[in-house]
Amino acid sequence: MSRKLRSQHWFGGLDKDAFIHRSWMKNNGLPDDAFDGRPVIGICNTFSELTPCNAHFRGLVEQIKAGVLEAGGLPLEFPVFSCGESNLRPTAMLFRNLASMDVEEAIRGNPIDGVVLVAGCDKTTPSLVMGAASCDLPSIVISGGPMLNGQFKGRAIGSGTDVWKFSEDVRAGVMSPADFMAAESAMSRSPGHCMTMGTASTMASMAEALGLALPGNAAYPAVDAHRARLARLTGRRIVDMVAEDLRLSNILTREAFANAIRVNGAIGGSTNAVVHLLAIAGRVGTELTLDDWDRFGRDVPTILNLMPSGAYLMEDFCYAGGLPAVMKEISDLLDLDCMTVTGKTIGANIESAENYNADVILPREKALTQQGGIAVLRGNLAPQGAIVKPSAATTGLMKHRGRAVVFESIDHYKSRVDDPDLDIDETCIMVLKNCGPKGYPGMAEVGNMALPQKLLKKGVRDMVRISDARMSGTAFGTVVLHVAPEAAVGGVLALVEDGDFIELDVENRKLHLDVDDAELSRRHARWVAPVPDMPGGYQGLYVERVMQADKGADLDFLVGCRGHAVPRESH
Ligand code: FES
Ligand code: MG
Repeated sequence: MSRKLRSQHWFGGLDKDAFIHRSWMKNNGLPDDAFDGRPVIGICNTFSELTPCNAHFRGLVEQIKAGVLEAGGLPLEFPVFSCGESNLRPTAMLFRNLASMDVEEAIRGNPIDGVVLVAGCDKTTPSLVMGAASCDLPSIVISGGPMLNGQFKGRAIGSGTDVWKFSEDVRAGVMSPADFMAAESAMSRSPGHCMTMGTASTMASMAEALGLALPGNAAYPAVDAHRARLARLTGRRIVDMVAEDLRLSNILTREAFANAIRVNGAIGGSTNAVVHLLAIAGRVGTELTLDDWDRFGRDVPTILNLMPSGAYLMEDFCYAGGLPAVMKEISDLLDLDCMTVTGKTIGANIESAENYNADVILPREKALTQQGGIAVLRGNLAPQGAIVKPSAATTGLMKHRGRAVVFESIDHYKSRVDDPDLDIDETCIMVLKNCGPKGYPGMAEVGNMALPQKLLKKGVRDMVRISDARMSGTAFGTVVLHVAPEAAVGGVLALVEDGDFIELDVENRKLHLDVDDAELSRRHARWVAPVPDMPGGYQGLYVERVMQADKGADLDFLVGCRGHAVPRESH
């Protein structure tokens, strides 16, 4: 190594502090030469049995460590807060920022020269990248990989996507509770994260599209030996990245984010990528706005035929060629000069990619939609923006005027939606309030609220729904999300009343509440802010300092890169 590495400020020298740092590390079995100036690679592990999507990481990390050792580095694994989507309440998103603080401080405070970020389940990827971006050391992402396809009664079923369908089928009376139970065991049949193009697969794809992971990272199943080899190569590569001082800020440029946004349109990626990429950009100090999502993504065709937008699953995507093949298909829309963790450009990384299955990765002219990007809507109902995902929506509802049926909170929704006397039909617009960053708190994935049972029984399967919430990346429907400002801070959403008319016009990016300004001011004067039921602690801090969705829902004081200067000694 030609320069003195940061870890040598701990491990180099003959003073009392170096004695302390080395001596205690030696109880791990490390010999003297482990501290000779070789790169120390932190392996940031989100393993947890409470995050089942990441529960296989012990094996993966062994491969990463072997790779680091082979390349002459010293691997040191450390655990961080693991945001598991399926168990954490009230929502894993509430803890994304907390986990990012854990990651940032663990990296900066320790003798680390480069970091492998080991992530899988939805929020684990952004929380690790956000924390690492605030430090800006050489860093590389490896994803845990998706589960094998679900298999139920002779057909493939997808994580999340089929849960929403099955649960509506049960409520509509067309699926038996016994089949529902059987499907539960058939859906998750191997280690790995959701194998639809949900948020986990989307964020693994975003990591690859941004240039933060080795090519192929997004799609290899968790149990595929390709994944283990990729982990090994990731371990080797981070050691070289330290030698090259190739840092996150060299990779996370505005052009890289533009590429990722376009790739998100091409893969029909999760709406959650919007808040995560905005938050990551904020950490590294790259300019990125909500409107950039529309600007860069607007005319990108959705060519990946995966649930929830299409028919197939991640295993099929892998065999079709994975993300490099998708990027190759839309390479005219990408900036191919962006630098990546390979030390080569995106263009070089995808040069030899091939599409092996044109039903899974569709030709451009057969795209699921030609306007696959996330649409950013504005109007008096969302002055700071709202979003909708056209590839998951019903074409006939993309321009729609309807009567609002309003739910003041998620509890109000639950108590009211199946009331047989609820005055609602399929032309109405369901409006849900107080589910945003501060309101829920944590901006839960409740925006794709289930339709009233009486309409499901009539065969209705989609309606326009509007909220300040998010929705699962595995979900679908004509669902307007992330309305900002949210209801809990007095956004116009808080003022919508039953019977008001709302206009949605996705083509013209419009979301309008047909109530005049004078009436809105009268309603605003009467509006009473909900009192958050917060016991203090982290959740109290979160509600006080969280920013709105259009700013990525990060905590305001976490924005920015605070670097990796060596902190002062502890003794
Ligand atoms: Fe972990 Fe879907 S619940 S990825
Ligand atoms: Mg999810």
